[in-house]
Amino acid sequence: MKHIRNFCIIAHIDHGKSTLADRLLDATESVTEREKQSQLLDSMDLERERGITIKSHAVQMVHHHEGQEYVFNLIDTPGHVDFSYEVSRSIAACEGALLIVDAAQSIQAQTISNLYLALENDLEIIPVLNKVDLPSANPEEVTDDIVDLLGCDREDVIPASAKTGLGIQEILEAIVKRVPSPKGDPDAPLRALIFDSVYNPFRGVETYFRVFDGSIKKNQKIKFVATDNQYSADEIGTLKLIQIPKKEISAGDVGYVITGIKEAREVKVGDTITDAETPTQNAVSGFEDVKPMVFAGIYPVDTEDYEELRASMEKLQLNDASLVFQPESSAALGFGFRCGFLGMLHLEIIQERLEREFDMTVITTVPNVSYLAYTLKDPNEALPVSNPSDLPDPSVIDRVEEPYIKASIITKADYVGPVMSLCIEKRGEITNQIYLTEDRVELSFDMPLAEIVFDFYDRLKTVSKGYASFDYSPIGMRTSKLVKVDVLLNGNKVDALSALLHADNAYDIGKKMCIKLKELIPRQQFDIPIQAAIGAKIISRETVKALRKDVTAKCYGGDISRKRKLLEKQKKGKKKMRAVGNVEIPQEAFMAVLKLN
Ligand code: GTP
Repeated sequence: MKHIRNFCIIAHIDHGKSTLADRLLDATESVTEREKQSQLLDSMDLERERGITIKSHAVQMVHHHEGQEYVFNLIDTPGHVDFSYEVSRSIAACEGALLIVDAAQSIQAQTISNLYLALENDLEIIPVLNKVDLPSANPEEVTDDIVDLLGCDREDVIPASAKTGLGIQEILEAIVKRVPSPKGDPDAPLRALIFDSVYNPFRGVETYFRVFDGSIKKNQKIKFVATDNQYSADEIGTLKLIQIPKKEISAGDVGYVITGIKEAREVKVGDTITDAETPTQNAVSGFEDVKPMVFAGIYPVDTEDYEELRASMEKLQLNDASLVFQPESSAALGFGFRCGFLGMLHLEIIQERLEREFDMTVITTVPNVSYLAYTLKDPNEALPVSNPSDLPDPSVIDRVEEPYIKASIITKADYVGPVMSLCIEKRGEITNQIYLTEDRVELSFDMPLAEIVFDFYDRLKTVSKGYASFDYSPIGMRTSKLVKVDVLLNGNKVDALSALLHADNAYDIGKKMCIKLKELIPRQQFDIPIQAAIGAKIISRETVKALRKDVTAKCYGGDISRKRKLLEKQKKGKKKMRAVGNVEIPQEAFMAVLKLN
């Protein structure tokens, strides 16, 4: 154990975590040329394109220092708030963290929130000032910021460039010298923390763990504490980009186990692995069953594809335990699924994966958070409302509660005004304002989660000209004035366009929805009235004027093949539409409420 070092990398998105990890692997010669890719730790295609580490992994390196061999376990952490619980479990598996700060961008919200998690877990923090090679780098000022934040000495901050290789040797040395070796009792009953799992279609779920006490042996009968399921540890091993099977993994070390589990759901991040016969009395603390935060309906564009969509969703769920769904039906869209996601990014990822990996074209309905409704009849019983159609009639509602978050925003002093106005507009209440440095301010707000789901990120970026970073954590439910706004097209209510909104915003948003739908719905042979309503009360109205859209008109009777092409194109375009009653609604319309301005 003396020569093991377990650490993670904390960084804001794009500050260079993957590039630096890559450098460390190079420097310890952990990777052969053949295995080398530009960004080693991000293995999913989608991940690489988005530049976001969606799923955390672990990798082992061997580093030689003063004639001694050290085993380094680098535990990767996802870099987005949607996945913050996974970050917290990865951090709990480590003794140290490299805190990477971009020398041009300085400290951002994500850096701070993950740093707090690391400090709560008593991790040794090694600050690294990355990208000092950039002409726009401000090494002196940013070092000041880091010293202010951590209360460390300037000498503790390691100037580095993951691009040129500067500082890499210093970082390796600091890991040996500053990160404490793991502690634990190798003779106690097995006690290991699950910090991640990866679905492998051939081998079943690979569970990644960190052993705190005891050891895990090949073929041992093991138990997962939270789920109380028992398995045989068919294969165990350590991770060096490829898996290296082992006979035993002992206290302090990190590895994987394969038990034949076929569903990601059975393995819960944060759970404890122990021996089935002599279980530990002391499971690793901090386990939580992660709950979806954002809900939306997903429907096949073509109703005939429902079964195929179900099969695709089931496959996705095998490898993404945080995705939940159940069948629902909509008068407008037919059969589909109500799905729960960790956040908006997670929703986008699922939608994209359905399209890319399963070749499905889907309609996603307006996302909403999950509310609790209490009726006059039984004011103590909470009814969860994660679908507009679940909201009881207003006449029987006693009260509704909605989820709140604590939001932390770091921005430049110049933008404090506009950022505050935006947060207040989004029903936020300011709770704190700290000047981190002369020019950098951290603002804290209590805000309804629902307000983040709608256009918040985009607006924040705009009002701060990009100089604001944002992070949040849930703080519980609060009473809210919630109403259901319905949309009627040609007099027919389209349930898939209904939205749950705060009463204060309902008129304004209802009006904007009508205007937006007017832009999106193509003209047809008859007038199409678009109305927004709360209950029986119409709050807004627009009309799509009748017009036969003659796409061939532009061709001046000329080239026939060109005419045909245009008609083909129109047909194809139609496929992305959904006919509701006698009105054709394009796919984008169902998400239009998210893009109102
Ligand atoms: P996420 O995975 O999105 O969290 O990003 P990350 O923190 O892993 O950042 P990544 O390593 O992908 O780097 C982001 C960008 O910065 C890439 O374009 C890198 O090539 C670049 N970059 C990383 N380190 C350095 C550096 O030291 N100097 C310079 N000039 N660019 C760097």
